[in-house]
Amino acid sequence: MTMRTCKNLLVTGGAGFIGCNFIRLLLSPGHEFSGRIINLDALTYAGNPASLADIEARYGGNRYFFVSGDIRNPDLVQFLFKNYAIDTVVHFAAESHVDRSILGPEAFITTNVLGTFTLLEAARQYWGGDSAGTLFHHISTDEVYGSLGKQGYFTETSPYDPRSPYSASKAASDHLVMAYHHTYALPVTLSNCSNNYGPYQFPEKLIPLMILHMLSGKPLPVYGDGKNIRDWLYVEDHAHALWTIIKGGRTGEKYAIGGENEWENLTLLTTLIDLVSRKTGMDGDTLHAAITFVKDRPGHDRRYAIDCSKLKAELGWKQLVTFEEGLAKTVDWYLANPEWIQGIQSGEYQQWLNKNYDTR
Ligand SMILES: NC(=O)c1ccc[n+]([C@@H]2O[C@H](COP(=O)([O-])OP(=O)(O)OC[C@H]3O[C@@H](n4cnc5c(N)ncnc54)[C@H](O)[C@@H]3O)[C@@H](O)[C@H]2O)c1
Repeated sequence: MTMRTCKNLLVTGGAGFIGCNFIRLLLSPGHEFSGRIINLDALTYAGNPASLADIEARYGGNRYFFVSGDIRNPDLVQFLFKNYAIDTVVHFAAESHVDRSILGPEAFITTNVLGTFTLLEAARQYWGGDSAGTLFHHISTDEVYGSLGKQGYFTETSPYDPRSPYSASKAASDHLVMAYHHTYALPVTLSNCSNNYGPYQFPEKLIPLMILHMLSGKPLPVYGDGKNIRDWLYVEDHAHALWTIIKGGRTGEKYAIGGENEWENLTLLTTLIDLVSRKTGMDGDTLHAAITFVKDRPGHDRRYAIDCSKLKAELGWKQLVTFEEGLAKTVDWYLANPEWIQGIQSGEYQQWLNKNYDTR
Protein backbone atom coordinates (compact mmCIF):
# COMPACT_ATOMS: atom_id res chain seq x y z
CA MET A 1 0.00 0.00 0.00
CA THR A 2 1.37 3.46 -0.91
CA MET A 3 1.23 5.90 1.96
CA ARG A 4 0.37 9.52 1.26
CA THR A 5 2.75 12.22 2.35
CA CYS A 6 0.86 15.30 3.46
CA LYS A 7 2.80 18.54 3.65
CA ASN A 8 0.26 21.34 4.01
CA LEU A 9 -2.91 20.37 5.80
CA LEU A 10 -5.93 22.63 5.85
CA VAL A 11 -7.80 21.55 8.97
CA THR A 12 -11.24 23.13 9.28
CA GLY A 13 -12.88 23.40 12.69
CA GLY A 14 -9.61 22.65 14.45
CA ALA A 15 -10.60 24.71 17.49
CA GLY A 16 -13.48 22.32 18.19
CA PHE A 17 -13.45 19.11 20.17
CA ILE A 18 -12.28 16.47 17.68
CA GLY A 19 -10.31 18.87 15.48
CA CYS A 20 -8.14 20.07 18.36
CA ASN A 21 -7.45 16.51 19.47
CA PHE A 22 -6.46 15.65 15.88
CA ILE A 23 -4.08 18.62 15.67
CA ARG A 24 -2.62 17.74 19.06
CA LEU A 25 -1.97 14.19 17.83
CA LEU A 26 -0.23 15.27 14.61
CA LEU A 27 1.96 17.81 16.41
CA SER A 28 2.77 15.53 19.35
CA PRO A 29 6.44 14.66 19.89
CA GLY A 30 7.55 11.70 17.79
CA HIS A 31 4.54 11.73 15.46
CA GLU A 32 5.45 10.92 11.85
CA PHE A 33 3.67 14.00 10.42
CA SER A 34 6.32 16.59 9.60
CA GLY A 35 4.33 19.19 7.63
CA ARG A 36 2.31 22.31 8.48
CA ILE A 37 -1.25 22.68 9.73
CA ILE A 38 -3.45 25.62 8.78
CA ASN A 39 -6.41 25.65 11.13
CA LEU A 40 -9.40 27.55 9.70
CA ASP A 41 -12.05 28.05 12.35
CA ALA A 42 -14.84 30.62 12.74
CA LEU A 43 -14.71 30.28 16.55
CA THR A 44 -18.43 29.78 17.04
CA TYR A 45 -19.60 29.03 20.59
CA ALA A 46 -18.03 25.55 20.10
CA GLY A 47 -14.60 26.73 18.99
CA ASN A 48 -12.05 27.53 21.65
CA PRO A 49 -8.52 28.75 20.90
CA ALA A 50 -7.57 27.91 24.50
CA SER A 51 -7.72 24.25 23.50
CA LEU A 52 -4.62 24.82 21.36
CA ALA A 53 -2.86 27.58 23.32
CA ASP A 54 0.19 25.39 24.00
CA ILE A 55 0.35 24.31 20.33
CA GLU A 56 0.18 27.97 19.26
CA ALA A 57 2.99 28.86 21.68
CA ARG A 58 5.19 26.04 20.46
CA TYR A 59 4.51 25.88 16.72
CA GLY A 60 2.65 29.11 15.87
CA GLY A 61 3.90 30.74 12.63
CA ASN A 62 6.10 27.74 11.96
CA ARG A 63 4.21 24.46 11.69
CA TYR A 64 0.87 25.74 12.97
CA PHE A 65 -1.15 28.66 11.58
CA PHE A 66 -4.49 29.65 13.05
CA VAL A 67 -6.87 31.52 10.73
CA SER A 68 -10.01 32.95 12.25
CA GLY A 69 -12.56 32.71 9.44
CA ASP A 70 -15.55 31.02 7.94
CA ILE A 71 -15.59 28.01 5.62
CA ARG A 72 -18.52 29.70 3.85
CA ASN A 73 -16.20 32.47 2.65
CA PRO A 74 -14.98 31.42 -0.84
CA ASP A 75 -12.40 34.22 -1.18
CA LEU A 76 -10.78 33.32 2.10
CA VAL A 77 -10.81 29.59 1.40
CA GLN A 78 -9.31 30.05 -2.07
CA PHE A 79 -6.66 32.38 -0.68
CA LEU A 80 -5.65 29.76 1.89
CA PHE A 81 -5.29 27.05 -0.77
CA LYS A 82 -2.95 29.25 -2.79
CA ASN A 83 -1.07 30.90 0.02
CA TYR A 84 -0.23 27.68 1.86
CA ALA A 85 -0.13 25.33 -1.16
CA ILE A 86 -2.70 23.09 0.49
CA ASP A 87 -2.43 19.42 -0.53
CA THR A 88 -4.73 17.90 2.08
CA VAL A 89 -8.03 19.04 3.57
CA VAL A 90 -9.24 17.52 6.82
CA HIS A 91 -12.75 18.83 7.16
CA PHE A 92 -14.17 18.87 10.70
CA ALA A 93 -15.89 22.28 10.76
CA ALA A 94 -19.60 21.90 11.33
CA GLU A 95 -22.49 22.83 13.48
CA SER A 96 -22.46 19.58 15.42
CA HIS A 97 -25.11 19.48 18.11
CA VAL A 98 -28.44 17.79 17.37
CA ASP A 99 -30.38 19.72 20.02
CA ARG A 100 -29.23 23.04 18.61
CA SER A 101 -30.24 21.90 15.11
CA ILE A 102 -33.77 21.35 16.39
CA LEU A 103 -33.95 24.82 17.94
CA GLY A 104 -32.30 26.59 14.98
CA PRO A 105 -31.56 24.57 11.83
CA GLU A 106 -30.39 27.37 9.51
CA ALA A 107 -26.74 27.51 10.58
CA PHE A 108 -26.57 23.73 10.09
CA ILE A 109 -27.58 24.06 6.47
CA THR A 110 -25.30 26.97 5.68
CA THR A 111 -22.19 25.69 7.47
CA ASN A 112 -22.53 21.95 6.94
CA VAL A 113 -23.82 22.02 3.38
CA LEU A 114 -22.75 25.35 1.83
CA GLY A 115 -19.49 25.42 3.80
CA THR A 116 -18.58 21.94 2.56
CA PHE A 117 -19.51 22.99 -0.97
CA THR A 118 -17.24 26.06 -0.70
CA LEU A 119 -14.30 23.89 0.37
CA LEU A 120 -14.93 21.31 -2.36
CA GLU A 121 -15.09 24.03 -5.02
CA ALA A 122 -11.82 25.57 -3.80
CA ALA A 123 -10.15 22.14 -3.84
CA ARG A 124 -11.46 21.41 -7.33
CA GLN A 125 -10.29 24.76 -8.66
CA TYR A 126 -6.92 24.80 -6.94
CA TRP A 127 -5.97 21.17 -7.55
CA GLY A 128 -7.57 21.22 -11.01
CA GLY A 129 -6.38 18.49 -13.32
CA ASP A 130 -3.33 17.82 -11.17
CA SER A 131 -4.66 16.22 -8.06
CA ALA A 132 -1.73 13.82 -7.56
CA GLY A 133 -0.75 13.75 -3.90
CA THR A 134 -3.88 15.58 -2.79
CA LEU A 135 -6.77 14.46 -0.58
CA PHE A 136 -10.01 15.87 0.75
CA HIS A 137 -11.02 13.97 3.87
CA HIS A 138 -14.53 14.62 5.11
CA ILE A 139 -15.47 13.83 8.70
CA SER A 140 -19.02 12.69 9.21
CA THR A 141 -21.22 10.89 11.66
CA ASP A 142 -23.09 7.61 12.01
CA GLU A 143 -26.24 9.70 12.57
CA VAL A 144 -26.69 9.97 8.79
CA TYR A 145 -27.91 6.36 8.85
CA GLY A 146 -30.86 6.99 11.17
CA SER A 147 -31.80 4.66 13.99
CA LEU A 148 -31.22 0.94 14.58
CA GLY A 149 -33.47 -1.55 16.33
CA LYS A 150 -32.09 -3.90 18.97
CA GLN A 151 -30.03 -5.80 16.39
CA GLY A 152 -27.66 -4.87 13.58
CA TYR A 153 -24.91 -2.41 12.81
CA PHE A 154 -24.29 0.47 10.44
CA THR A 155 -21.67 -0.20 7.77
CA GLU A 156 -20.29 1.79 4.85
CA THR A 157 -23.15 0.52 2.70
CA SER A 158 -26.05 1.25 5.06
CA PRO A 159 -28.73 3.38 3.41
CA TYR A 160 -28.88 7.02 4.49
CA ASP A 161 -31.90 7.85 6.64
CA PRO A 162 -31.18 11.06 8.58
CA ARG A 163 -33.78 12.13 11.18
CA SER A 164 -32.65 15.54 12.49
CA PRO A 165 -31.65 18.76 10.75
CA TYR A 166 -28.10 18.03 11.97
CA SER A 167 -27.91 14.55 10.48
CA ALA A 168 -29.72 15.67 7.30
CA SER A 169 -27.17 18.44 6.79
CA LYS A 170 -24.30 16.02 7.37
CA ALA A 171 -25.89 13.53 4.97
CA ALA A 172 -26.14 16.27 2.33
CA SER A 173 -22.47 17.13 2.81
CA ASP A 174 -21.49 13.44 2.52
CA HIS A 175 -23.38 13.20 -0.78
CA LEU A 176 -21.68 16.33 -2.12
CA VAL A 177 -18.23 14.99 -1.23
CA MET A 178 -18.88 11.68 -2.99
CA ALA A 179 -20.42 13.51 -5.96
CA TYR A 180 -17.25 15.60 -6.36
CA HIS A 181 -15.28 12.38 -6.48
CA HIS A 182 -17.49 10.77 -9.10
CA THR A 183 -18.07 13.89 -11.19
CA TYR A 184 -14.73 15.69 -11.00
CA ALA A 185 -12.40 12.86 -9.88
CA LEU A 186 -11.58 14.83 -6.75
CA PRO A 187 -9.55 12.53 -4.45
CA VAL A 188 -11.75 12.15 -1.40
CA THR A 189 -12.12 9.87 1.59
CA LEU A 190 -15.00 9.99 4.03
CA SER A 191 -15.45 8.65 7.53
CA ASN A 192 -18.62 8.17 9.57
CA CYS A 193 -17.93 7.87 13.27
CA SER A 194 -19.96 7.09 16.36
CA ASN A 195 -20.14 9.26 19.50
CA ASN A 196 -16.81 10.63 20.70
CA TYR A 197 -15.84 11.51 24.24
CA GLY A 198 -12.68 12.82 25.88
CA PRO A 199 -10.83 16.04 26.79
CA TYR A 200 -11.81 19.42 25.28
CA GLN A 201 -15.42 18.48 24.52
CA PHE A 202 -17.88 21.35 24.83
CA PRO A 203 -20.09 20.66 27.84
CA GLU A 204 -23.40 20.58 25.98
CA LYS A 205 -22.64 16.98 24.99
CA LEU A 206 -23.66 14.14 27.31
CA ILE A 207 -20.47 13.10 29.11
CA PRO A 208 -18.94 16.53 29.90
CA LEU A 209 -22.41 17.94 30.64
CA MET A 210 -22.97 15.27 33.28
CA ILE A 211 -19.48 15.61 34.79
CA LEU A 212 -19.83 19.38 35.13
CA HIS A 213 -23.37 19.19 36.51
CA MET A 214 -22.18 16.68 39.12
CA LEU A 215 -19.29 18.93 40.14
CA SER A 216 -21.58 21.95 40.51
CA GLY A 217 -24.44 20.11 42.26
CA LYS A 218 -26.94 20.61 39.41
CA PRO A 219 -29.64 18.15 38.24
CA LEU A 220 -28.49 15.46 35.79
CA PRO A 221 -30.98 15.70 32.88
CA VAL A 222 -31.76 12.43 31.08
CA TYR A 223 -33.90 12.41 27.95
CA GLY A 224 -37.02 10.18 27.88
CA ASP A 225 -36.53 6.82 29.60
CA GLY A 226 -32.72 6.97 29.33
CA LYS A 227 -32.65 3.77 27.30
CA ASN A 228 -31.28 5.22 24.06
CA ILE A 229 -28.11 3.40 23.07
CA ARG A 230 -24.95 4.99 21.71
CA ASP A 231 -21.57 3.57 20.70
CA TRP A 232 -18.72 5.51 22.35
CA LEU A 233 -15.20 6.04 21.04
CA TYR A 234 -12.36 7.82 22.84
CA VAL A 235 -11.47 10.91 20.81
CA GLU A 236 -7.78 10.02 20.48
CA ASP A 237 -8.76 6.71 18.90
CA HIS A 238 -10.86 8.68 16.40
CA ALA A 239 -7.88 10.97 15.66
CA HIS A 240 -5.67 7.89 15.06
CA ALA A 241 -8.31 6.44 12.75
CA LEU A 242 -8.46 9.66 10.74
CA TRP A 243 -4.70 9.79 10.32
CA THR A 244 -4.73 6.12 9.27
CA ILE A 245 -7.33 6.85 6.58
CA ILE A 246 -5.59 10.03 5.40
CA LYS A 247 -2.33 8.13 5.04
CA GLY A 248 -3.53 4.94 3.44
CA GLY A 249 -7.27 5.05 2.69
CA ARG A 250 -8.41 4.38 -0.86
CA THR A 251 -9.82 7.44 -2.62
CA GLY A 252 -13.56 7.39 -3.19
CA GLU A 253 -14.02 5.12 -0.17
CA LYS A 254 -16.00 5.51 3.01
CA TYR A 255 -14.78 4.15 6.33
CA ALA A 256 -16.99 3.53 9.36
CA ILE A 257 -15.29 4.24 12.68
CA GLY A 258 -16.67 3.03 15.98
CA GLY A 259 -15.86 2.08 19.53
CA GLU A 260 -17.61 -1.32 19.52
CA ASN A 261 -18.77 -0.07 22.88
CA GLU A 262 -22.54 0.32 23.25
CA TRP A 263 -24.12 1.86 26.32
CA GLU A 264 -27.62 2.82 27.34
CA ASN A 265 -27.55 6.48 28.39
CA LEU A 266 -28.80 5.74 31.90
CA THR A 267 -26.29 2.92 32.52
CA LEU A 268 -23.51 5.14 31.23
CA LEU A 269 -24.60 7.89 33.61
CA THR A 270 -24.63 5.60 36.65
CA THR A 271 -21.12 4.38 35.72
CA LEU A 272 -19.97 7.98 35.41
CA ILE A 273 -21.55 8.89 38.76
CA ASP A 274 -19.66 6.06 40.48
CA LEU A 275 -16.42 7.21 38.86
CA VAL A 276 -16.85 10.88 39.78
CA SER A 277 -17.86 9.91 43.30
CA ARG A 278 -14.73 7.72 43.69
CA LYS A 279 -12.41 10.39 42.27
CA THR A 280 -13.82 13.38 44.16
CA GLY A 281 -15.22 11.84 47.35
CA MET A 282 -18.66 13.29 46.51
CA ASP A 283 -21.56 11.29 47.90
CA GLY A 284 -22.72 8.77 45.27
CA ASP A 285 -26.31 8.58 46.60
CA THR A 286 -26.69 12.36 46.33
CA LEU A 287 -25.39 12.25 42.76
CA HIS A 288 -27.76 9.41 41.84
CA ALA A 289 -30.65 11.36 43.36
CA ALA A 290 -29.84 14.26 41.03
CA ILE A 291 -30.86 12.24 37.95
CA THR A 292 -33.84 14.09 36.43
CA PHE A 293 -35.82 12.71 33.50
CA VAL A 294 -36.69 15.41 30.97
CA LYS A 295 -38.99 15.53 27.95
CA ASP A 296 -37.49 13.45 25.14
CA ARG A 297 -35.78 15.08 22.18
CA PRO A 298 -38.06 15.06 19.08
CA GLY A 299 -37.02 12.36 16.62
CA HIS A 300 -34.58 10.90 19.17
CA ASP A 301 -32.86 7.95 17.47
CA ARG A 302 -33.01 4.82 19.61
CA ARG A 303 -29.78 3.04 18.87
CA TYR A 304 -26.61 3.64 16.87
CA ALA A 305 -23.89 1.00 16.46
CA ILE A 306 -21.04 0.74 14.00
CA ASP A 307 -19.37 -2.19 12.32
CA CYS A 308 -15.83 -0.90 11.71
CA SER A 309 -14.38 -4.15 10.37
CA LYS A 310 -13.48 -2.58 6.98
CA LEU A 311 -11.16 -0.03 8.60
CA LYS A 312 -9.64 -2.70 10.81
CA ALA A 313 -9.08 -5.25 8.06
CA GLU A 314 -7.99 -2.85 5.31
CA LEU A 315 -5.88 -0.33 7.21
CA GLY A 316 -5.03 -2.13 10.44
CA TRP A 317 -6.61 0.42 12.78
CA LYS A 318 -7.95 -0.61 16.15
CA GLN A 319 -9.19 1.11 19.30
CA LEU A 320 -6.42 1.50 21.88
CA VAL A 321 -8.31 2.99 24.81
CA THR A 322 -10.88 0.94 26.76
CA PHE A 323 -14.03 2.70 27.92
CA GLU A 324 -12.93 2.34 31.54
CA GLU A 325 -9.58 4.04 30.84
CA GLY A 326 -11.11 6.65 28.55
CA LEU A 327 -13.81 7.68 31.03
CA ALA A 328 -11.24 7.89 33.84
CA LYS A 329 -8.94 10.05 31.66
CA THR A 330 -11.88 12.27 30.71
CA VAL A 331 -13.03 12.83 34.29
CA ASP A 332 -9.41 13.52 35.35
CA TRP A 333 -9.06 16.07 32.54
CA TYR A 334 -12.23 17.98 33.49
CA LEU A 335 -11.16 17.96 37.15
CA ALA A 336 -7.71 19.30 36.23
CA ASN A 337 -8.86 22.08 33.87
CA PRO A 338 -11.26 24.43 35.66
CA GLU A 339 -9.96 27.48 33.72
CA TRP A 340 -10.82 25.89 30.37
CA ILE A 341 -14.31 25.14 31.70
CA GLN A 342 -14.83 28.63 33.09
CA GLY A 343 -13.75 30.10 29.76
CA ILE A 344 -16.56 28.42 27.84
CA GLN A 345 -19.41 28.57 30.31
CA SER A 346 -20.59 31.87 28.91
CA GLY A 347 -23.98 33.50 29.33
CA GLU A 348 -24.97 32.12 25.93
CA TYR A 349 -24.27 28.58 27.11
CA GLN A 350 -26.34 29.00 30.29
CA GLN A 351 -29.27 30.42 28.32
CA TRP A 352 -29.07 27.52 25.90
CA LEU A 353 -29.14 24.99 28.76
CA ASN A 354 -32.28 26.59 30.23
CA LYS A 355 -33.99 26.65 26.83
CA ASN A 356 -33.16 23.07 25.95
CA TYR A 357 -33.69 21.08 29.16
CA ASP A 358 -37.34 21.69 29.71
CA THR A 359 -38.14 19.56 32.80
CA ARG A 360 -41.16 17.31 32.60
N1 LIG B 1 -18.59 14.86 18.48
C1 LIG B 1 -18.92 13.67 18.01
O1 LIG B 1 -19.24 12.76 18.77
C2 LIG B 1 -18.89 13.40 16.51
C3 LIG B 1 -19.09 12.10 16.07
C4 LIG B 1 -19.01 11.83 14.69
C5 LIG B 1 -18.73 12.86 13.80
N2 LIG B 1 -18.57 14.13 14.26
C6 LIG B 1 -18.24 15.18 13.28
O2 LIG B 1 -16.92 15.60 13.58
C7 LIG B 1 -16.75 16.97 13.26
C8 LIG B 1 -16.23 17.72 14.47
O3 LIG B 1 -17.12 17.52 15.57
P1 LIG B 1 -16.82 18.19 16.98
O4 LIG B 1 -17.57 17.41 17.99
O5 LIG B 1 -15.39 18.43 17.15
O6 LIG B 1 -17.58 19.58 16.77
P2 LIG B 1 -17.46 20.94 17.59
O7 LIG B 1 -18.83 21.51 17.57
O8 LIG B 1 -16.80 20.71 18.90
O9 LIG B 1 -16.47 21.83 16.72
C9 LIG B 1 -16.84 22.38 15.50
C10 LIG B 1 -15.82 23.45 15.14
O10 LIG B 1 -16.18 23.98 13.87
C11 LIG B 1 -16.10 25.40 13.93
N3 LIG B 1 -17.03 25.95 12.97
C12 LIG B 1 -18.40 25.91 13.01
N4 LIG B 1 -18.93 26.56 11.97
C13 LIG B 1 -17.88 27.02 11.23
C14 LIG B 1 -17.78 27.76 10.02
N5 LIG B 1 -18.88 28.16 9.35
N6 LIG B 1 -16.55 28.05 9.54
C15 LIG B 1 -15.43 27.66 10.21
N7 LIG B 1 -15.47 26.97 11.38
C16 LIG B 1 -16.68 26.65 11.87
C17 LIG B 1 -16.44 25.76 15.37
O11 LIG B 1 -15.95 27.04 15.74
C18 LIG B 1 -15.78 24.61 16.13
O12 LIG B 1 -14.44 24.92 16.45
C19 LIG B 1 -18.14 17.47 12.81
O13 LIG B 1 -18.14 17.50 11.41
C20 LIG B 1 -19.10 16.42 13.34
O14 LIG B 1 -20.22 16.30 12.51
C21 LIG B 1 -18.63 14.42 15.61
